Amino acid sequence: MSLLEIKGLTLRTGGQALVSDLSLSVASGARMGLIGESGSGKSLTALAAIGLLPPDIRAEGSVLLDGKEVVGAREEDLVALRGAVAGTVFQEPLTALDPLMKVGRQVAEPLVRRYRREGGALDRRAVDREMRELLERVSLPDIARIANAYPFEISGGQRQRVAIAMALACRPKLLIADEPTTALDVTTQAEILELLSDLVNESGMALLFISHDLPIVAQIVEEVTVLRRGEVVERGAVRSVFSSPAHEYTRTLVAAAAAFDEALGGAR
Ligand SMILES: Nc1ncnc2c1ncn2[C@@H]1O[C@H](COP(=O)(O)OP(=O)(O)O)[C@@H](O)[C@H]1O
Ligand SMILES: [Mg+2]
Repeated sequence: MSLLEIKGLTLRTGGQALVSDLSLSVASGARMGLIGESGSGKSLTALAAIGLLPPDIRAEGSVLLDGKEVVGAREEDLVALRGAVAGTVFQEPLTALDPLMKVGRQVAEPLVRRYRREGGALDRRAVDREMRELLERVSLPDIARIANAYPFEISGGQRQRVAIAMALACRPKLLIADEPTTALDVTTQAEILELLSDLVNESGMALLFISHDLPIVAQIVEEVTVLRRGEVVERGAVRSVFSSPAHEYTRTLVAAAAAFDEALGGAR
């Protein structure tokens, strides 16, 4: 069964359709990429998948998250569903983090919610231990210092690692990562990508990886859906979309990525 099953999703604001009749499914354990240029509707699709659309945007169609309808669902039902099913990591880690709360406590919060959800007794020491384990799992150095630091006291890459640890704390079946490396420098991008890839492999969780950057997506997913101006123009296995793009728009994405690679090669 698909963990995420989007069918005929249309997102409107006023009279304008921002996403039109989009269908996409991510099976348990699968890794799907969603690519498209800036403004093509990727982030709105991600938000619709977890029922977090801005108030001025209306959704039509169906989004099933682990078999439960998200479109039109009550917020209280969505909160439970999000925690149990879908973890999210966004472009800018600062939006996920509370600037006034120490890192350790921020990672502990979703842990406490998960313990409650699972109905277990709340053992503060177990929470503390698991918080440290999570910080280790995302390969943060000097755990004691970082757990005790505020977000502004650590680097951008470290903040994204903390945001990933928070998403993992819920033990989601699906991780939705919306441009998780876009705000980072190139070296850090590669490290975070490798980390996400390792974590997904280890845990077997499904992944919806969103990016405007084709070569990045190709490193981590098996299948891609290509979005242009709110419409799906192509989908398929990464290799075939890359090597023989069917749609002209995808061809321009591939050509742009190749030109970028060449420019980098020339600079070396
Ligand atoms: N809250 C909103 N109200 C109206 N339009 C919006 C809102 N959020 C995004 N949009 C518009 O919807 C389109 C898709 O946005 P988005 O999903 O953020 O694109 P992407 O993530 O692919 O860059 C853009 O044209 C954007 O300007
Ligand atoms: Mg976006």
